[in-house]
Amino acid sequence: MNIQGRHFTAIWYDPKTDGVRYIDQTKLPWELVIREMTTFADGIRAIRDMEVRGAPLIGVTAALAMYIGVKEGEQSPAEMAVLLNATRPTAVNLAYATDQMLRICGTEKLSAGLASRFLQRALELREEEITRCRMIGEQGLSLISEIAERKGGEPVNILTHCNAGWLATVDYGTALAPVYLAHDSGIPVHVWVDETRPRNQGAKLTTYELTQHGVPNTLIVDNAGGLLMQQGKVDLVLVGADRITANGDVVNKVGTYLKALAASDNQVPFYVAAPPSTFDQQTATGRDVPIEERSKNEVLFTDDHGSSIAPEGTPVHNPGFDITPARLVTGYLDGTILA
Ligand code: MRU
Repeated sequence: MNIQGRHFTAIWYDPKTDGVRYIDQTKLPWELVIREMTTFADGIRAIRDMEVRGAPLIGVTAALAMYIGVKEGEQSPAEMAVLLNATRPTAVNLAYATDQMLRICGTEKLSAGLASRFLQRALELREEEITRCRMIGEQGLSLISEIAERKGGEPVNILTHCNAGWLATVDYGTALAPVYLAHDSGIPVHVWVDETRPRNQGAKLTTYELTQHGVPNTLIVDNAGGLLMQQGKVDLVLVGADRITANGDVVNKVGTYLKALAASDNQVPFYVAAPPSTFDQQTATGRDVPIEERSKNEVLFTDDHGSSIAPEGTPVHNPGFDITPARLVTGYLDGTILA
């Protein structure tokens, strides 16, 4: 998608320098900083410190980090996979990507030939995510078109939580892919953007992405969505996911569950958009998924350099994700057929 009219993806490989480059999302929306991942440790740090974030993107980053790690030759691919999987435990895309990479090496020793096959597979995984996000966009476009027809030209109001746009994937996004395709095809859309405390991915990233692409959007506090639904100001809720378990439960950024409850109470359709790398058939229910506990400073301060918003020493519990039961989900957009 575009930043100031120029096409960007969230991460890419530069064959001229044999380097991996990515947008440092901790600097947005104030500065567009492109970083280079030159060591395996850089890849671990980029994921852990959330310079890259969003489930599909951290999977692709992990795959590219393993390519760099194989070139370095200091650790086995299996060791690298263990380290990567531990950086962000909830998003299954990470384990999916490291598993895909391990499948191509078996017990083979580190070598130049192995490195080139790792690069090829990592780039394939990147392309697969782009293609699938585009397909999710097309699938969701028909949903938005139907609502637009019913509304007879009035804008379709879509509420989203966190950032499930192109910055969270590689291109297009999951929840936002249908929004971009609808906007590009001339359907009037407007997005209610949850700020998404405590890291404010909605306020910092989703508003940035949408505005750069020219999509009308309005930032709201996390607790406003229920009221807007009661007032008939939300036609559709579209969110992404970090993991969808075998029974259809959705684990996504904390706060998603409350939006699903409000949507159900107000008969607003609640759709979850995610590529196959997010579906975890090995885990039975959302309750079996490890929920990432994040730093108390995310809650105690407005942001990394921000002011304190609670008395010093206040105990904090900061789960990064929550579980939306399958019964609250109207449908899944996985880029195939509507479920
Ligand atoms: O903690 P984050 O910013 O990585 O959380 C991201 C989300 O919760 C997204 O909704 C999810 O990864 C889907 S991204 C397409």
